[in-house]
Amino acid sequence: MSGDLKWNKILGAGLATAFVIIVVQQVGVHVYATHAPEKPGYAVNVPDEAAEGGDAPALKPDWGTVLPAADLAAGEAAFARCKACHNNAQGGPDAIGPNLYGVVGGPVMHRAGFAYDDAMAKHKAEHPTWGYDELDAFITAPQKYVPGTKMSFAGLRDTATRINLIAYLRSQGSAGFAIPAPDPTRQPGAAAAPAAEGAAAPATTEGAPASGAAVPAAGPAGAATTQATPAAPPASTSPAPANH
Ligand code: HEC
Repeated sequence: MSGDLKWNKILGAGLATAFVIIVVQQVGVHVYATHAPEKPGYAVNVPDEAAEGGDAPALKPDWGTVLPAADLAAGEAAFARCKACHNNAQGGPDAIGPNLYGVVGGPVMHRAGFAYDDAMAKHKAEHPTWGYDELDAFITAPQKYVPGTKMSFAGLRDTATRINLIAYLRSQGSAGFAIPAPDPTRQPGAAAAPAAEGAAAPATTEGAPASGAAVPAAGPAGAATTQATPAAPPASTSPAPANH
């Protein structure tokens, strides 16, 4: 009697296992089968990556307009991320990175005692000063702007955050570095407010060599919409019914 039950259990376990295997196989077939036709659609992703890199240089901030309106407290808050490596107190020490007091408008490699990377020396030969544009480009993507720099920081992609941060840094020992007059060529339509920077970018093709190269693949829609679209196409194509 008990022997029969035992065999029932074993049989049951075996059936259950077989069932699970079949289910997994079936699911697997669907998962992998839908994968193949998805691939051609990935051409869409090309401008996506390019747009990321092209974000920053699209249209440079109009410093004469945005700096006086910047939020210093927000800039100080953003500086928290730099503090892991940078002290910014007057007379403060160097840390993993050089002390940043007075760096805005100052010479590149402004701290005599700090052991800068050769990459930074090379950069200094071409751009000797940390002007607003130079700082902005560096903070956006350090490794892109100064290839090989030993500042291992990914960068701040948000333009408004960088503007606030640069305004804050300027207030730390660089108030003497003049703010330029507003520059109409940097004001695309209504993009006076820092918050509008991201939205304003598509209107221009200036700069952004990377995205410029990739745009033809994206078609006439151009860079205007690529930022918003990347997530959508894969999502809509994945449940492709074509395989059934
Ligand atoms: C992981 C550490 C680290 C973080 C985080 C970091 N930095 Fe740096 N930073 C460095 C190092 C190291 C250097 C020196 C780079 C070199 O010599 O190539 C540097 C250099 C600099 C310089 C050039 C200074 C000069 O004297 O020429 C500036 C400006 C700067 N950082 C700003 C910032 C800002 C702003 C942030 C925050 C958004 C930040 N850094 C975040 C490590 C860091």
